[in-house]
Parts: sequence; C-alpha cells; structure tokens
Amino acid sequence: MTDLVKRAQKVLLQNWKEGFTIPCEGLYPFQWNWDSGFIAIGWAHFDLEKAMQEIHSLLKGQWKNGFLPHIVFHNESESYFPGPEVHAAFLSPNAPKIRTSGITQPPVLGFVLELLYQVCKKKQYDSFPFLKEVYAKVFQNHHYFYTHRDPFNEGLVYICHNWEAGTDNTPVWDLIWETFEVPEYQFQRKDTQLIDASHRPSNKEYQYYIHLIELFKQWRYDDAMISKNSPFLIQDPLFNSMLIASNNSLIRLGKMLNENEMVSQLENWNQSAKNAMNQKLYDHEQKGYVYYDLRNQRIIPYLSSSSFTPLFAEIPSMPRANELLMHFNKGRFSGYKNENYLCASFDPQSPFFNSKKYWRGPIWINLNWLIYMGMKKYGFDKEAEQIRQDTLFFIEKYGFYEYFEPNKETNKTLSKGYGGNNFSWSAALAIDLLTNNQ
Ligand code: SER
Repeated sequence: MTDLVKRAQKVLLQNWKEGFTIPCEGLYPFQWNWDSGFIAIGWAHFDLEKAMQEIHSLLKGQWKNGFLPHIVFHNESESYFPGPEVHAAFLSPNAPKIRTSGITQPPVLGFVLELLYQVCKKKQYDSFPFLKEVYAKVFQNHHYFYTHRDPFNEGLVYICHNWEAGTDNTPVWDLIWETFEVPEYQFQRKDTQLIDASHRPSNKEYQYYIHLIELFKQWRYDDAMISKNSPFLIQDPLFNSMLIASNNSLIRLGKMLNENEMVSQLENWNQSAKNAMNQKLYDHEQKGYVYYDLRNQRIIPYLSSSSFTPLFAEIPSMPRANELLMHFNKGRFSGYKNENYLCASFDPQSPFFNSKKYWRGPIWINLNWLIYMGMKKYGFDKEAEQIRQDTLFFIEKYGFYEYFEPNKETNKTLSKGYGGNNFSWSAALAIDLLTNNQ
C-alpha cells in the first residue's frame, strides 16, 4: 500500500463520527448526501462495514415520500450555518423524526451501490443482504424524482436550489439571481470564519440561498408549490447525469436481485431521460451539455465540468463523446496552450471564471473522478489517464484539499490547495484512483 493511500485512509478515519463521515472538520460537521456516496466508495476499499454503515446512516434521513435530504443532522455542532433550525424540515408532513434539511443533492447512491457490490465481489464478501435492504429505498428516491420533479413528464428532473446542484456558486446561477430581488436577511456565516472568504461564495449570494429556503418553508416544502412558484427551477446536466448513471446501476443490480417490477419502471424512466438529455440539454455550438432554466424557459449555454458528466452515465453517442473531448486538449478547459490542469469547474475562457472561488473555476476531485470514469467507459484511455495524473498531482503535492488551482504556472507558486483541508471525498476518491484504477 502506498503512503498516499495510508494518508487518505487516515483522513477518513479522523472524519468518522459514530456511523457516518463528516466531509470536513469544522466546515461541514454533519452528514452530507452526495459526499457520503463518494466517501463510501473510499471506505469500501479498506473497511466494508463502514462503507455500508455510511449508506444506512444517510438513509435514516429519508422522507416518507422517498425524498433524500442533502444534510442529515445526526449530531450537534455550532460550527456550520445554516443548521437544522434554519432548514426546519419538520414543517413538511413528509419529514422523518431525525432532523434533516429540506433540499436534496445529486443522486449518486445507485451507482455507489453498484461499486460497493463490485468491491464486495472482489473480496468475496456476501453483499446480498445489504443490497436487498437498501435497494428499494434508493429506488423510492428515484420514484420521488420522476413523480415530483418532472412536471411536464420530459424525463428530466429539476433542482430548486443551488445547493441541490452541488455546484453551489457556479456563474450559471448568476443569471438566476438577476431575475428576482431578495430582502436583507440578518445572519452570521460560519464558513468565512474558517476559510479565506475569497475562496467562498459572496454574502450577496448567501442572501439568495437563504431566501429560497425561507420560501420553501413558507410552502412547507410542498413540491407542487415549489414547482409552481420557485424562482430557481433548473434542469441541471450534472444532477440528471447522476440520476441516469444511478438508474443504469439500479437496473443492473435489480436484475440480479430479481426486482423485476422496479427494473422495468427504471428502464422506462431511463429511456426518456437519456433522450431528453441529448435533445434538450446538448448545445451544438458549445459542444457540451448545458442548463435549462425551467422558470424562465431558456437555455443557459455555459460550459462547466458538469457538462462532461453525461459520459459517466453513457448518455452521448460516440461522435458526441468525441466532441466533448475537444475541450480537453488545446481546448477551452485545458487552455489553448494546455496551460491548465484538468478539469476546471467552470469554463476557463469565460469572463466569469475565477480560479480560486469554489465552483467558479477550481478543480474538484469528485468531478475529475466522474469525468475520468466516464472517459474509461468510452475507451478514451489516454485522456482518462491525463485526468487521473492531474488529479493525483494535486493530492501528492498539497494533500486532501477541497479544491485546487487549475493554472499550471500559478501552481508553481502555491504550497496549498483551496477551501477546507482533510476533505473526505478528496481522500476517498484518491483511494479509489490508487487502488481500483492503476
Ligand atoms: N456546500 C454547501 C455549503 O457550503 C452546503 O451544501 O455550505
């Protein structure tokens, strides 16, 4: 085992809190939805019990209608804003007893289950009882999406909050904030007490984030009210790709588990989902998957690292997949002189790109991992290896930071990554890249 794998394991062990893993000490002190999915992939390689516990703990937060919240507040902590009292999920008749948020995050659990299954198989561990127990719950989550978040039956689900996207402050949302006014809320941010404020979303953006939560609370998190009235209603390429990749995995696992009814339902959803991704969200000019603003009925033709995640869900045809690749070698993302490491979270050629600011440009390990895995599925081994090398460059040079500087020259002057350190999914996915994918 390499020293790097040992150090990564240590990060997960330090962030483990009685049944689940926090993403980052201080900065994110509870259980987060998609974080836990990626974290479970890392655990699986050296402690399968913890990987499965991680999933069980997340599912404790599931609502009666199948909804899976973005945060489960198992524990107390004063170091994070907004905490459980701000989210006030109990206002919904669907909320469980345990405290949770009332918004969700990209649905990664389906494909995480399949990856856990593969590791179990390699280790000759019987995963059948675990899969039998959790499969229907994850299916119910997909059922929730297709029955509550696709008002026109298009096969694409919407998100109603930037925190649901995972890509919290991508410049794409700037265009949404322009469409409505917010009152001046009084609150104390905690993140900027811990992290350089220039690496985090602005105070003005937080006003919008909190305003949306306040609206949802007025509507008691009722999906029909949200879909009718929310000023933020987006069909996001990353979110829908995660759902489709999870559909793909649940279909394969379901066949094995003889869950035939659920499998045929998933197959139906998946077919219209893939068609809709290719017809509605592919931008021929930009050569990438982009965003649709359902509230204002317009395409937002911005490229981000999310634009390439349909590869992971096997959505593009081969010619289209080749088109996506053009951004990675002397293209928009690599830079025309290959001056950037891959893959910036937002188009480096855009005037809104900011190489240090959270999701406005820095490189994130989970997006790199998704793009790497996606490229492998299409047989783009050389390009995949480039992404893997770039990812490991950051981890080796700086350690397990939350996000990293894309520009190669600037990296020569740095001694740290950006955002939080000892960040769980950076460690977990480094373990996967170093053990599973040599
Ligand atoms: N990522 C968000 C934050 O920064 C929460 O989901 O607080």
